[in-house]
Amino acid sequence: MKDKKNGVIIGYGHMGSWHVNHYQKSDAVNLLGIYDINPEKCRQAEENGIAVFPSAEAIFADPRVNFVLIATPNEFHKPYTLSALAAGKHVVCEKPVALSSADLSEMIAAAKAAGRIFTVHQNRRWDCDYLMMKEVYESGDLGEVTSIESRYHGSRGIPGDWRGERAHGGGMIYDWGVHLIDQIVGIVHDRELERVFCHCHHITNFEVDDGFKLDLYYEQGLVVRVEVGTSNFIPLPRFYMTGTNGGAVVDHWMDNCRVVCCKNWNEKDVTPLVTPGGLTRTMAPRDEKTVAEHEITRPEPNVHDFYRNFVRAIDGEEEQYVTHEQMLYDLRIMEAAFESDRMGMPVDFPYKRSFGKYAVPNYR
Ligand SMILES: NC(=O)c1ccc[n+]([C@@H]2O[C@H](COP(=O)([O-])OP(=O)(O)OC[C@H]3O[C@@H](n4cnc5c(N)ncnc54)[C@H](O)[C@@H]3O)[C@@H](O)[C@H]2O)c1
Repeated sequence: MKDKKNGVIIGYGHMGSWHVNHYQKSDAVNLLGIYDINPEKCRQAEENGIAVFPSAEAIFADPRVNFVLIATPNEFHKPYTLSALAAGKHVVCEKPVALSSADLSEMIAAAKAAGRIFTVHQNRRWDCDYLMMKEVYESGDLGEVTSIESRYHGSRGIPGDWRGERAHGGGMIYDWGVHLIDQIVGIVHDRELERVFCHCHHITNFEVDDGFKLDLYYEQGLVVRVEVGTSNFIPLPRFYMTGTNGGAVVDHWMDNCRVVCCKNWNEKDVTPLVTPGGLTRTMAPRDEKTVAEHEITRPEPNVHDFYRNFVRAIDGEEEQYVTHEQMLYDLRIMEAAFESDRMGMPVDFPYKRSFGKYAVPNYR
């Protein structure tokens, strides 16, 4: 990395504050200040010793500013990205980067025309649950992977802010779906997605989805379930994977990953499981003679690598981790999910994957 780059954060809310703290500890970026449309947020920033820009135009006109981070509600991502790029600034946009692939294509074209780096903060690529499941998938230990389930279950309903309103790009597909979909695209790097089926929930909100069940049908029979629920008082496991030779689970996103592999497929003397209503050998648990269990411990990823890579990409030393092709692919899956929910049936996914494995920094 040559030198630190100067950034300004637009939107000093929950995630904007996270970025402020992050920049203050970063070896890659400096914080020049923030801008927020809400004067109360600007006053809070000043109280916290952070410089406040009087307007977005003032940021774009300031030659000290190398890049902007956009952490506003989702509908402002596109206009701020286009203005920043037009002013010659590099851009990191919060997720979801855009509300449609047409909008995103315009943003990508603008970045290419300006010759500036434009990426999205897919920070959940640094989560341990995802990284461990990616390891399991790539290890081949489960044989042919036949199903993956990835879910977040909460019980507080959809937040009562802009996330509950369509005009702001609210809803759980945009909010959490984008992370979970991006992670699945990071895991299943070697098969094409063929069809998508999605059902949105409206338990606490009727304007946007407050949760969803999304099934992704890949070639060779792999089925992935991506699910977000906000009315689930008993959460199901965070990640679950099955294969022809075993299974893996991460119960909670702070847990290690449990892997069970088959040692001996054919068992001679299965002790039946006896229930009040009958008995079963098919569903009886296996014992240690035929299966072996091991744990994958949580890795130690460093999310500062996101901005280190961003700065190296600006300096022409590395390709940006979250590429334009990946951003577009994720968004197309989200669009297919919306369309499937609207139609009440599965829809074809005609887009081919144009990139390989995600680049990830060394985290073990
Ligand atoms: N990557 C992640 O882990 C993660 C987590 C949370 C939120 N996010 C994303 O960050 C963005 C912000 O979410 P949040 O939770 O911080 O929301 P928030 O409501 O807490 O903060 C948004 C801030 O933007 C300000 N704002 C609104 N309109 C603006 C405008 N036109 N110009 C300037 N400022 C404006 C608001 O006053 C508010 O302070 C969203 O895109 C969200 O999806 C990402």
